[in-house]
Amino acid sequence: MLTVEGLSVRADDLELVREVSFGIGPGERVGLIGESGSGKSLTALALMGLLPDGVTASGTARLGGRDLVGVPERRLKDLRGRTVSMVFQEPMTALNPLMRVGAQVAEVMTLHGVAAGRARERAAELLGRVRLPDPERIARSYPHQLSGGQRQRVMLAIALANEPDLLICDEPTTALDVTVQKQMLELIAEVAPALLFITHDLAVVASLCERVLVMYGGRVVESGPLREVFKHPRHRYTEGLLAASRLAPRGTRLATIPGAVPAAGRFPGGCVFRDRCAHATETCATAPALTDPDLTGPEPRGDGHAFACWHPRR
Ligand SMILES: Nc1ncnc2c1ncn2[C@@H]1O[C@H](COP(=O)(O)OP(=O)(O)OP(=O)(O)O)[C@@H](O)[C@H]1O
Ligand SMILES: [Mg+2]
Repeated sequence: MLTVEGLSVRADDLELVREVSFGIGPGERVGLIGESGSGKSLTALALMGLLPDGVTASGTARLGGRDLVGVPERRLKDLRGRTVSMVFQEPMTALNPLMRVGAQVAEVMTLHGVAAGRARERAAELLGRVRLPDPERIARSYPHQLSGGQRQRVMLAIALANEPDLLICDEPTTALDVTVQKQMLELIAEVAPALLFITHDLAVVASLCERVLVMYGGRVVESGPLREVFKHPRHRYTEGLLAASRLAPRGTRLATIPGAVPAAGRFPGGCVFRDRCAHATETCATAPALTDPDLTGPEPRGDGHAFACWHPRR
C-alpha cells in the first residue's frame, strides 16, 4: 500500500536521509527506531510533505496509487490528512490555543469539503472514538483546559478525521506518564488503518508493531519482522541498540553503544556505523547494501529480514 523507494532528504549539500526504501501493507504496524539524529522524523516529514524550508526530498513514495514526494503543495494539501496523517510528540504546539478543540477537529474536515454542521457532529463522534469522556464537553474546551493525555487524544482525533490510509506517529507518548502512555498505545493500535510508529522505546515497538525499520546515519541499516530482528539482530548497530535496552537477547549484558551519533554530515563514508563499531574492518570503508541473504542463499526463505553489514552477528 505504501511503497517508498530511494527516499533521500537533503539540506544544501548535506544528505540527511539517504536512499531509504520500505513498504507498509494495509493494516500493518511498522516501528521506526534509531538513536536521536538518525533521520526518523525527516523521513516521516518527507512522506507528509512537511519538510522545513530549505530541506528537500527526492525518490518516490506512493500510497494507494498516489505520489507523496515531488508533488506541488496545492495537491499535497489535499492528500495530507486524507491519505496520510501524522501525530506529533508535542500536542500543545500543534493545537491552536485560542480555538475550542471541537472546532479544530471540525476544521480539518471542512477544509476537505465536509459541510460545517456535519463536521461538528463528526468531531464529537471522533472525540468519543478516541475514548475521551463526555466528548460534547471536551469539544467545547480549549486545549489548556485538557490534560496532556487528553490533548494527545484530540490530536489523534484530528489525524483520523479524514479517514487516512496511513497514520504516522512520531514519539506520540514520550511526554505522557506510563499508564496514560499504555492506554494511548492501545488506542493507536486499535484505530490506525496502517501505522508507521517512530520511537526510541524498543519495548513500545515490541508491543505494538509487526515489523521494524532500524535507522542510523540517515539510512535503514536493518529491517524485517519484529520477532526476527529483536530476537536475532544481525546489524551491529541493532545489536547495540537492543543490548542497551531491556530487550537484550538472552545472554547479552546491558551495554551502551560507544561514542555518540555524529552531527549530520559527519558520518564516515562506507558503513555509517563503522567508527563506533567493534567489528569494523577495512572492508567497511565500502558501503554495504541492505540485503536479505536468505533471498540470495541456497535455500531462499524470504522472511524479509534485511541488513546492511559486512560483519553481521551470526
Ligand atoms: N532543517 C534542517 N537543516 C539541517 N539539518 C537538519 C534539519 N532538520 C534536521 N536536521 C538534521 O538531520 C538529522 C536527522 O534529524 P531527525 O530530526 O530526522 O532525527 P530523528 O531521528 O528524528 O531524531 P530524534 O530521535 O531526536 O527525534 C539530524 O542530524 C538533524 O540535526
Ligand atoms: Mg525525531
